[in-house]
Amino acid sequence: MKLWGGRFKDTTDPLVEKFSASINFDWVLYEEDIEGSIAHAEMLEKIGILTRKEKDSIIKALGQIKKEIERGEFKFSSELEDIHMHIESRLIEILGDTARKLHTGRSRNDQVSLDMRLFLKKKIKEIKAKILNLLKTIIEKAESEKETLMPGYTHMQRAQVVTFAHYILAYYFMLKRDLERLITLERTINTLPLGSGAIAGSNIPLDREFVKEKLGFLNISENSMDTVSDRDFCLDTVYAMAMIMLHLSRLSEDMIVFSTEEFSFISLPDSLCTGSSLMPHKKNPDSLELIRGKTSRVIGDLISLFTLLKGLPLTYNRDMQEDKEPLFHAIETVSNAVDIARLCIEKMELKKERMEKAVYESYMPAVELTEYLTLKGIPFREAHAIVGKMVVLCEDKGIKLHEMDLMDMKGFSTIIEEDVYAFIEPKNIIKNRKTIGSASLYEVDRTIEREKGYLNTF
Ligand code: ARG
Repeated sequence: MKLWGGRFKDTTDPLVEKFSASINFDWVLYEEDIEGSIAHAEMLEKIGILTRKEKDSIIKALGQIKKEIERGEFKFSSELEDIHMHIESRLIEILGDTARKLHTGRSRNDQVSLDMRLFLKKKIKEIKAKILNLLKTIIEKAESEKETLMPGYTHMQRAQVVTFAHYILAYYFMLKRDLERLITLERTINTLPLGSGAIAGSNIPLDREFVKEKLGFLNISENSMDTVSDRDFCLDTVYAMAMIMLHLSRLSEDMIVFSTEEFSFISLPDSLCTGSSLMPHKKNPDSLELIRGKTSRVIGDLISLFTLLKGLPLTYNRDMQEDKEPLFHAIETVSNAVDIARLCIEKMELKKERMEKAVYESYMPAVELTEYLTLKGIPFREAHAIVGKMVVLCEDKGIKLHEMDLMDMKGFSTIIEEDVYAFIEPKNIIKNRKTIGSASLYEVDRTIEREKGYLNTF
């Protein structure tokens, strides 16, 4: 008979058993389920529901079950629905009646929320560590490429001179925001749901403070109905995962484009690429394409959860079992993608001459030329128009701005002097930029030093 079978005359249809089982994905919560049961048993002893002997035997048997699962000896079956039922049934098999006391004051509704919160605490910590590693790798890359010139793009057109350091630090700041988001998330997750029962709490004086301390939670949930129907922490998590994927997807797209023969700004490590079954010369950036591709599924995970919850009446509804697959998928995907991105940044090879060539073969210093005129008193809009005309002339002659001779320049504005050439030289441009956060050597230096300090606080 099922653990909840008392009021049933007939057995469950096998099709329903198969349809409603979650064990093939929620078994991963076994460690947290056992951890939660141990704390619950200790609390039940404290309030006199279990004797010390009973509690000790429960804890011992739970330890045995954990080992059985880890060794692959545990028998899973869809008849027992989920991980909670599996562990409890096995406990009853081992201990008999003593084990039947464990579920006192507890429902799978608060139990599953507890398991997921404990699970997420662990996973978020792991992902934080991975992101920290990635951030460190970006800083190292930036440090070794401080003076490497490259074109910065808007609309995929060469826009302004930047350095590779400044470029890659853009991703540092996206991922730093992701890290901060995970820190906030840790606080959201850190609330104990156990003790809410199925919906309304209990007549038995469960000591929630005790359980909170045992399991290392910061807070205790404050409304039992909210507690068993709340999946905000899952949505917050998947949102955080989707944001990380979004950032890694954009990085991947850049790397894919930069590694094309047309750009040839970087060469990707062989270890992250695969070959073609037909074309012998191909080296394809599959792992980056897959980061980009898998991002869509993680965004889908977020939409799944929103859709799952939007029409649900209070409180727990079985629909909520469907929260796990998108949640686990999002976490697993991010966990791998962050590592792949780190390997990519660490191991890619920069083709500096190609990037520098792209800088010198461009009209990007037109911006500095406009600022040169502006600093000499010409209103910006007028300066903009003058330089626009100079670019047209250069294009006609097939030369770049720095190749124009001074007399020709003076034809556009008599204010232009010999010092203009130094002003529009890319190597000087990155020295002269003045604004906070700009693509200047000084600002990048300052950023790297400051952010190294930040990373050292972890
Ligand atoms: N497997 C269920 C889930 O993940 C656990 C809670 C079941 N509660 C219930 N009343 N059937 O949501």
